[in-house]
Amino acid sequence: MQNNLENKVIAVTGANGIIGLEVCRLALLQGAKIAAIDISDNNITALKENLPKEHVENLFYIQCDVRNRNALDHALSQIISRWAQLDGLHNNAAWKGKNLEDFFTPFEDYKLETWQEIFSVNLDSVMLVDQVFGSQMVKQKKGSIVHTASIYGLRAPDNRIYEGSEYMGTPINTPAVYAASKGGVIALSRYLAGYWGPKNIRVNTVTPGGVESGQNDIFTQNYSSKVPLGRMAKNNEIAEAVLFLLSDQSSYMTGHNLVVDGGYTQC
Ligand SMILES: NC(=O)c1ccc[n+]([C@@H]2O[C@H](COP(=O)([O-])OP(=O)(O)OC[C@H]3O[C@@H](n4cnc5c(N)ncnc54)[C@H](O)[C@@H]3O)[C@@H](O)[C@H]2O)c1
Repeated sequence: MQNNLENKVIAVTGANGIIGLEVCRLALLQGAKIAAIDISDNNITALKENLPKEHVENLFYIQCDVRNRNALDHALSQIISRWAQLDGLHNNAAWKGKNLEDFFTPFEDYKLETWQEIFSVNLDSVMLVDQVFGSQMVKQKKGSIVHTASIYGLRAPDNRIYEGSEYMGTPINTPAVYAASKGGVIALSRYLAGYWGPKNIRVNTVTPGGVESGQNDIFTQNYSSKVPLGRMAKNNEIAEAVLFLLSDQSSYMTGHNLVVDGGYTQC
């Protein structure tokens, strides 16, 4: 059976990114109304230009910094005045900070300032977005929230896979701040699933493994060799799991962590 998101109003944060954009696209094709929330909109604009005509009115871009509580309140009021309800939330935005070199600094030298900068989006904002959009769902007595975590919220990275690895020309690793923030996202999901279960709000997590998005061949090979399915994920494979948890198909699931990682952490 296919997920059916017809006429569901869904807010997606980080909607301009690799995973969020695909969630928007696939949900729109299922007939959902999408509030695409992000700081920037170049990919969202391109998506709108290429959508079948009947879905165009169902894509509403809201420029919003998810760190800003007032901006989030305003985003919610725009959604409610346009569509009068909110059925789903994909709480998904994350950030590598202002300076990639700072983000990838070895742990011994990591700046507290950078740590806090990353947490301000990857975990603090996830809480703020839940507070604002989840409160609307509490009023409506129904809703589904999906958080995006990461396999590194479940287990430590094997740092050997980063030897010779680059992303957009920069040497990469997975810093502790990323792992810690994603571990926090998983804990927050479980907490809110317990807290809001009696209010008929479901809260689940999707935990993706690495998604193909321009990593160099060395990284792709190193990473894929650790994955039982032998490859990285495609963004639609993560998005489908998100859509399932947003839809009524998963109506008896809450507090769940749906791991979509080709078996990396499961075998
Ligand atoms: N891509 C992967 O391999 C992968 C793997 C595991 C988990 N994840 C997680 O999946 C989620 C989506 O990742 P992605 O790969 O699509 O990342 P991405 O960087 O492509 O997209 C993230 C989006 O969040 C937006 N954003 C950042 N800060 C913001 C702010 N303050 N306010 C509003 N928007 C803001 C960015 O503009 C961007 O469009 C993230 O939570 C990420 O940690 C990604």
